[in-house]
Amino acid sequence: MLEIMFAKNTLPKKDALAIYLPEGDVKSSIYKKLNSKTSKALDKAIESSRFEAKLGQIIEIMAPHGLHVNRIVVVGLGKVKKITEHILQEAGAKVAKKLLKSGEETIQFMIEEIDGVKISETEIATNIAFGARIGSYTFLKYKTSKKKEVYPSLERAVFLVSDIEKAEKRYKHFEAIANGISMTRDFVNEPPNYLTPKTYAKDIARLSYLGIDVEVIEKEELKKLGMNLLLAVGQGSTSDARLVIAKWNGDKKNDDYPIALIGKGVTYDTGGLSLKRHDGLLNMKTDMAGSATVISTIKSLALQNAKVNAIAVIAIVENSISANAYKPDDVITSMSGKTVEIAHTDAEGRLALADSITYTQKFYKPKVIIDVATLTGAAVVTFGSEYAAILSNSDSLSKEFNNVSKATGEKIWRLPLDKAFAKLLKSDIADINHLGTREGQTINAAEFLHAFVDDKKTKWAHLDIAGTAYIDKPGTFHPKGATGYGVHLLNEYINTNYNKFKD
Ligand code: BES
Ligand code: ZN
Ligand code: ZN
Repeated sequence: MLEIMFAKNTLPKKDALAIYLPEGDVKSSIYKKLNSKTSKALDKAIESSRFEAKLGQIIEIMAPHGLHVNRIVVVGLGKVKKITEHILQEAGAKVAKKLLKSGEETIQFMIEEIDGVKISETEIATNIAFGARIGSYTFLKYKTSKKKEVYPSLERAVFLVSDIEKAEKRYKHFEAIANGISMTRDFVNEPPNYLTPKTYAKDIARLSYLGIDVEVIEKEELKKLGMNLLLAVGQGSTSDARLVIAKWNGDKKNDDYPIALIGKGVTYDTGGLSLKRHDGLLNMKTDMAGSATVISTIKSLALQNAKVNAIAVIAIVENSISANAYKPDDVITSMSGKTVEIAHTDAEGRLALADSITYTQKFYKPKVIIDVATLTGAAVVTFGSEYAAILSNSDSLSKEFNNVSKATGEKIWRLPLDKAFAKLLKSDIADINHLGTREGQTINAAEFLHAFVDDKKTKWAHLDIAGTAYIDKPGTFHPKGATGYGVHLLNEYINTNYNKFKD
């Protein structure tokens, strides 16, 4: 994990030195200073390398004459008018990635305000730091190679600023979110033979050291609660289903939880008896990403000591096969009392979520429910890995999410809920069929969940993160694999909207 530090803004005498430049001919005062100390090495490097300071473009000047640093790294920020906090995060990630396995152990980042950009020095430093921190993530737990080049050399990034205390204070917020993103990635990347319902629930229970109240409900208790949909999904597995409830009570004057997060925690999705084909099975260890996102959001809130009350309810279950497994044609009585006709055992996520929604409404009566799930392949077909689908019974809630999404850069796109889709869930034998048609699956699945939501009492949004949770190629902020999508988004949503729900 990259250590982030802040120090006085003097010229570094060792390590890798990093600076940034916007596009165009504007050269910052730090640039000019370094350029003159190095007999114009920076000008020469730019002239000879087609460097235009486009966003993320990098040049390196090794062992610059006149300075004692190992190298100077210049990163482009793109056009001045387009520079935002998110762009700065991108630049931070680019630099950290470039130096990750370079042999350097420390980057010293010189920070100054940018002409024509209304972002303070503190915000510039902490946003670049955040980008560097999440952009340098690796998952090497299962590598046994002794070769140095497999592992990062980079250990820390030091940001040289005029007000160290202010930057340190502000960075605490980012560090909490970065920590949550890392935890999500670690859980999602973990192989399914190690991350089973049993081990996953145990790992989450350890979060109690942060003052998070964690309750794990096991099979016998789930039976008593009537959570038969969740139990059915887990019936074929050797590791029983669990419901985990994690509460953060940061608003000490109140003991209600107006915002509830619900997560799909399918530790492996074989498809059950409606078995997936081999290419469909690949990466189905990631089917617990929704649960990892919401539990990590609670962790981030705790790390920030956020003055909010929020709860995460997650359904942890493995969708496996055995003589005990649930079957297409089964009819199961849900916790809500509604009977459900099983049409396809690969549509397991909505079953586990439906009982979790009922449980949350019954025991916590939240004003807002946000469920997060890798629910449908159709969401991947529609949005690729760029957008998560959001479906909601509330225009205002959707708008609030749109706003925070713009700030964090985690993109969402609203799909409609529509009675026409709900009608497709009619069953001949039971109250409801859980599949509908194959067409419009992202909406069908959401309409199934909708059937368990009390519209009159609850604003509800469903985030289908099937495409954004795990990406098979490296991105700006993540290596190939788990992305940690949603942790920042949910944090910002809760932090900026919580006060609306206080009585
Ligand atoms: N876990 C999958 C959805 C998924 C697919 C997540 C690809 C991430 C990447 C879900 O449980 C599932 O299998 N959905 C089926 C539903 C179908 C049987 C109606 C799907 O989308 O194909
Ligand atoms: Zn499935
Ligand atoms: Zn699934």
